[in-house]
Amino acid sequence: MNKFVTIERFILDNQPQTAKGELTSLLYDIALAAKIISYKVNRAGLQDILGRVGSTNIQGEDQQKLDVFADRIIFQLCDHPGRVCVMASEEHKELLHIPTHYEKGNYALVYDPLDGSSNIDVNVNIGTIFGIYRAKNWEERGRKEDVLQPARALVAAGYVLYGSSTMMVYSTGQGVHGFTLDPELGEFLLSHQDIRLPEPPAYYSINASYYHYWTPQMKAYADWLQGHEVANAPKPLKLSARYIGSLVADFHRNLLCGGIFAYPAEVNKPEGKIRLLYEAGPLSFLIEQAGGRASNGRENIIDIQPTTLHQRTPIFIGNSYLVEQAEKFLQRM
Ligand code: AHG
Ligand code: MN
Ligand code: MN
Repeated sequence: MNKFVTIERFILDNQPQTAKGELTSLLYDIALAAKIISYKVNRAGLQDILGRVGSTNIQGEDQQKLDVFADRIIFQLCDHPGRVCVMASEEHKELLHIPTHYEKGNYALVYDPLDGSSNIDVNVNIGTIFGIYRAKNWEERGRKEDVLQPARALVAAGYVLYGSSTMMVYSTGQGVHGFTLDPELGEFLLSHQDIRLPEPPAYYSINASYYHYWTPQMKAYADWLQGHEVANAPKPLKLSARYIGSLVADFHRNLLCGGIFAYPAEVNKPEGKIRLLYEAGPLSFLIEQAGGRASNGRENIIDIQPTTLHQRTPIFIGNSYLVEQAEKFLQRM
């Protein structure tokens, strides 16, 4: 591991020469938010930060206190430095505008402040997911158009994983790099430079309890992932099943060990569960940077043009071969 290469140093050393440092500073703001959220997550059992707040979010899901805390921290760290012109969060129905007394910046930030909320109270890994776009029109920056862009237009994307250690993994389009928080120093130190998806894949992640809601084609693909021979399909790979219930944690393990995460459509839920703008999109940017793919079963997620802030998408994300097989199975007549 490169000793004492902090995330700030790495971002500065790798930003384009032409950059004015705004994106660098925004990534640093997000790293600071991650440290504060990590501090709270690691004390969740000791302070009054566990459990529900008694309200529901736009998704109709019970808001956890840590969801609300993480959402507020990210907004408050990014609303005033003048790097961001607008934000969109999983926890808010509408756009989050920059208060009028602060200067608007050039970037639009989309984020899932706390991913895997169902795991908060049982001490299982949770995460934060973020994506950063450049405003579409500088003169009129701060509108919905600035966040409703395909993931291929992202200038940066990443996640924070609050687990046995806290890690921040991001890409600005020059590869995927991982940093581990040193709690004594309070710094994210470079620990995984240039992460590339290993081949062959080792895992598949899918919530098999929904098997009976899937289409016959999806059932056949799930059988194949499990190792069953399926007529007119290649010999299945030897994969092990891992499903944590926190997308960030499942994604991170598959990124480091090779694998696929699938949250497919159901017969009565054609759009699946995972949100395009601040979950599937940023992760599709990362997986392509690491040599893999993300598909909704028909097309690359990275190229989908979002139309609403909270739209959902089926997702198959990981090693390209496994994603391509998903598309082939799902397109069978
Ligand atoms: P969030 O906590 O931000 O709402 O996201 C939860 C998502 C994702 O993290 C996870 O993979 C998935 O929900 C788990 O859903 P199921 O419990 O239906 O498997
Ligand atoms: Mn989530
Ligand atoms: Mn969430």
